Amino acid sequence: MKKVLLSGVKPTGRPHIGNYFGAMKQWVEFQVSQPDAEKFFMIADYHALNFIQNGEEMKQNILDVVLDYLAIGIDPNKSVIFKQSDVSVHAELAWIFDTITTMPYLMRGHAFKDAEVKSKDISVGTFNYPMLMAADILLYDATIVPVGQDQKQHIEYARDTAEKFNRIFAHETFILPEPLIIKDVAVVPGVDGQKMSKSHGNTILLFATEEEIRKAVMSIVTDSTAGVPTNVYEIHKLFRSHVELDALYKEKAGKYKDLKEALIADISAFIKPLREKREALAKDKDAVLNILKAGGEKAKAKANAKMEVVREKIGVKLY
Ligand code: ADP
Ligand code: TRP
Repeated sequence: MKKVLLSGVKPTGRPHIGNYFGAMKQWVEFQVSQPDAEKFFMIADYHALNFIQNGEEMKQNILDVVLDYLAIGIDPNKSVIFKQSDVSVHAELAWIFDTITTMPYLMRGHAFKDAEVKSKDISVGTFNYPMLMAADILLYDATIVPVGQDQKQHIEYARDTAEKFNRIFAHETFILPEPLIIKDVAVVPGVDGQKMSKSHGNTILLFATEEEIRKAVMSIVTDSTAGVPTNVYEIHKLFRSHVELDALYKEKAGKYKDLKEALIADISAFIKPLREKREALAKDKDAVLNILKAGGEKAKAKANAKMEVVREKIGVKLY
């Protein structure tokens, strides 16, 4: 069976190091470790529409994600970079999945339940989010979906939906995708020790400026065990080996300021080349748009062919 990797992020704002270490870094590595696999990296703009309802902002955010992808090393010659809205069959397949999915099943979704705690005025799109995501994945016969821990349930929804469709209409229409979640970084903590997330306001941005890095690190909450500030250490270990860190944290036990300065230096050294590459790429907007457009064409060819099979199986294809 051909390996197909697919993943994506919503264009809802600047990415943070949790997005990078939890998901995007693995995407770049696959280009080397999985040269024969097909690789699709999507910008989930129609998912983001649940959050971003301003045309100008959406446009800018989409462009920003393409730049983020290119700057971290996703190579359009090795991977397909595309936006969801360029492939309209995602929405079509999501509708078909809606018809074989029940409301109680979707009500068990973690993301839905979290949204419901905040407000009962939930959009139908938020409720339905897992069905659009199932379509994103299943249209490409994706075998592996590399994501952070928080997306695990969404992959299970995609698997269940594939099985259900196969059971109702025809066996072997859809391939069941596997999530790929890297243990050590499954949940990157934020400056407050909670999961790093755009919505928690506790991030260290992936393309942060020097000032932003300093400000974020200085705000890390320093609860400590035996002189080791846990939150500082947990973030630091993304940038240095345990052996190096243990020596440093032993030598500087209790000296939080020094440890934070060491972390600032390590994060800065890591981010600087990424930030510079991104700035250089941003100068040629047309080139960036062309990459996105070409990726959309490639994605469309694959997804449209799969959709023809689906229409045939459900009995709406008469000619
Ligand atoms: P956020 O929670 O900041 O809104 P997204 O939901 O846009 O992040 O997530 C984009 C990708 O990054 C997903 O694959 C998600 O699992 C991963 N991710 C997000 N936050 C973290 C984190 N703190 N640790 C590990 N992975 C993360
Ligand atoms: N739901 C994912 C997130 O919030 C984004 C996403 C949309 C996605 N469609 C996908 C991820 C398909 C992997 C595969 O991060």
